[in-house]
Amino acid sequence: MKFTSSLPALTDAAAAAALDAAARQVRINLPLYTDRCQNHSSVHGIYPACDNNQWTCGFWPGEIWLSYERTGDEAFRASAETLVRSFADRIDRKIEVDHHDMGFLYSPSCVAAYKLTGSELGRDAAIKAADQLISRFQEKGQFIQAWGAMGAPENYRYIIDCLLNLPLLYWASEVTGDAKYADIAHRHITTCLANSFRPDGSTYHTFFMNPDGTPGHGATCQGYRDDSFWARGQAWGVYGSVLSYRYTRNPEYLGTFRKALDFYLTRLPEDLVPYWDMIFTSGNEEPRDSSSAAIVACGLLEAAKYVDAAEAQGYTHLARQMLGSLVEHYAVREQRPGAGQIAHGTYSKKSPYNTCTPEGVDECTSWGDYFYMEALTRLTKDWALYW
Ligand code: GLY
Repeated sequence: MKFTSSLPALTDAAAAAALDAAARQVRINLPLYTDRCQNHSSVHGIYPACDNNQWTCGFWPGEIWLSYERTGDEAFRASAETLVRSFADRIDRKIEVDHHDMGFLYSPSCVAAYKLTGSELGRDAAIKAADQLISRFQEKGQFIQAWGAMGAPENYRYIIDCLLNLPLLYWASEVTGDAKYADIAHRHITTCLANSFRPDGSTYHTFFMNPDGTPGHGATCQGYRDDSFWARGQAWGVYGSVLSYRYTRNPEYLGTFRKALDFYLTRLPEDLVPYWDMIFTSGNEEPRDSSSAAIVACGLLEAAKYVDAAEAQGYTHLARQMLGSLVEHYAVREQRPGAGQIAHGTYSKKSPYNTCTPEGVDECTSWGDYFYMEALTRLTKDWALYW
């Protein structure tokens, strides 16, 4: 990594204070989102409540578990356990689980419950979610199909985001002793690394495979253009590759992390928070995606565990600079019911070239809030991952 920034690094004391503030906001929000879930993104700064049927519903219980770890307050645990029951019901009744986001849903909710409290309900629900995830594996092409009816030509593709769903599979193999989950994770990431990362380390959001299993082509859904650099996809690539390294120790994944990170760093504005697509650089009026900065900070802090001291110091310092920028300029100051943690996230912005439904532009996002708290937690203790 050849990158320098003169931004101040977040101190331990400032990280602890920011995490305490975040936990206070979570406490304010408990009455709103215990019997219901939190919407994927805020609307004018306030999250609507929603049913447990979005791909994003796992992040809010993740915030509650992080708050429980920080404070030891049983009120957090009680709310999180209510949500775990909802997640168990969701997978039992197969409510909106015909997609690949089982890790995003079940790692910060149910795996966290199992790891923190020994919850058998959480464990069983998460294993059922892992079974659901591997049911989407396509032998022809060796990938986990992201969306839509299995095998449908318009949906015969996987997406870079799936790297964050793979830890659920590694975990499921560890707890069940059945290698089939990790085996599918290995086969999927092999396909992903072969196709989704361009030679310069940038990434395609989605990648189509041909019906005969040969690679098709990269395309965007939420990025600006097929050949641009959707910021969050790049962030999923950075953090996702190091998470797979954590479980497999395959050096190729650490190499992918370095390459994806190096590209990401070439496209950052001065405050280290990317525009929603990194085709846009400094001086642009386009919205940012603060969630990408929080995700990358988590990746840096995780990678620091596996590299030599000098490299680790560089990653940790950079993560502290990114988080310092988030705490100083993006953290929501006015705490009130329904408010989030970090502003200026972008879920899906419509461009003339992409296929997404516009929503959550320049708003808080539930995963941005979660990864912000995860990164701060990582600075306050030797954190045992939910992933
Ligand atoms: N996984 C979808 C997104 O990052 O918006």
